[in-house]
Amino acid sequence: PAPLRLGVAGLGTVGAGLLRLLQREGDLLAARTGRGFEVVAVSARDRSRDRGVPLTGLAWEEDPVALAHRPDVDVVVELMGGAEGPARALVEAALRAGKAVVTANKALLALHGTELAALSARHNAPLLYEAAVAGGIPAINLLRSGLAGDRVTRVGGILNGTCNYILTEMDRSGRPFDEVLKEAQAKGYAEADPTTDIGGWDAAHKLDILASLAFRPLTFESLQVRGIEAITPQDLRFARALGYRIRLLGMAQEVPARSPQAGHPEATEETRIVAWVGPCLVPSSSRLAHVNGVFNAVVAEGAACGPLVISGAGAGEGPTASAVAGDLVALARGAALPVWGVNPPPAPVAGGSVEE
Ligand code: NAP
Ligand code: HSE
Repeated sequence: PAPLRLGVAGLGTVGAGLLRLLQREGDLLAARTGRGFEVVAVSARDRSRDRGVPLTGLAWEEDPVALAHRPDVDVVVELMGGAEGPARALVEAALRAGKAVVTANKALLALHGTELAALSARHNAPLLYEAAVAGGIPAINLLRSGLAGDRVTRVGGILNGTCNYILTEMDRSGRPFDEVLKEAQAKGYAEADPTTDIGGWDAAHKLDILASLAFRPLTFESLQVRGIEAITPQDLRFARALGYRIRLLGMAQEVPARSPQAGHPEATEETRIVAWVGPCLVPSSSRLAHVNGVFNAVVAEGAACGPLVISGAGAGEGPTASAVAGDLVALARGAALPVWGVNPPPAPVAGGSVEE
């Protein structure tokens, strides 16, 4: 079969990283899929900018949405970011045109995932987004495939590389918040507006996606979100002295809609999803306390399989481009998956805790 033809919107950390990865590993991916990939068209804001990757021979679209309408593009790869504007317009246009879409855009999925899932189903156009959650950790595949046979009882973890970098570097070196944030930005970890990271919103977008896959589509506004803006080197020192570390965690869990403690002792089949993001004290001996720098940790628990913790790089060029390329390989192999996996009718989850 002919190579899968790609239109790539966004040539920043992730977009240029993807082009570099496809160039470097083109032969391997062609052998693995039996067809490989050909980037035919790209779009970004500034055509004159040197991306450190050759663009000669590629069509340039001033308007990224035009990629959705090119007959020579099979798959639209959206790597611009932003829940609205050109990213949303491009993804919607591509799905409406029946084209497969691969994106790393968690804000878009958290805020508009349900509408996009409907568009994807209506137009039989796959929408894949492994890179949207926890960089190189296969978090989406974990829920879609690894735990597909189990009832997920909770999901979350350390979901923002920038915050984990800031907290652990401040702790390690005693350097001030702003200096370490600048470093994380220079390394390509932070969002275009870094208040999205430090305010906990980016982790919340990812948690919304994980919970929507594990349980049922979640309204983003139902999440409780706190960031790390107020954490000082002194807080980190005190935590350490008491036998803890501070990590920004997010966790989503399905709980009975009415709790016995609230004066409703009767059993109920109704459940609600409790989802929150905030800075937490974790015991120094726990797995999560050993997740440092840009690393994330995805924590999931299956009723049958018990707890899982997967750790790895949560942001940056290589890990994110790797996750995007993984989705492209899945498409080339003919994967057809619904956008959100919805569990069977939910049942109350028994209490219990896991040592992470
Ligand atoms: P980035 O470095 O800021 O790159 C964004 C790219 O999009 C740039 O090439 C920019 O063009 C282009 N762009 C922005 N607005 C545009 C517009 N209106 N029209 C055309 N092009 C436009 O961002 P990034 O870090 O690569 O992130 C891209 C996406 O991946 C985001 O959704 C982000 O949340 C997600 N993500 C990032 C990481 C990470 O570690 N960086 C990890 C996982 C997911 P110019 O270059 O010309 O300005
Ligand atoms: N800004 C995000 C982070 C990028 O720091 O985790 C990866 O999603």
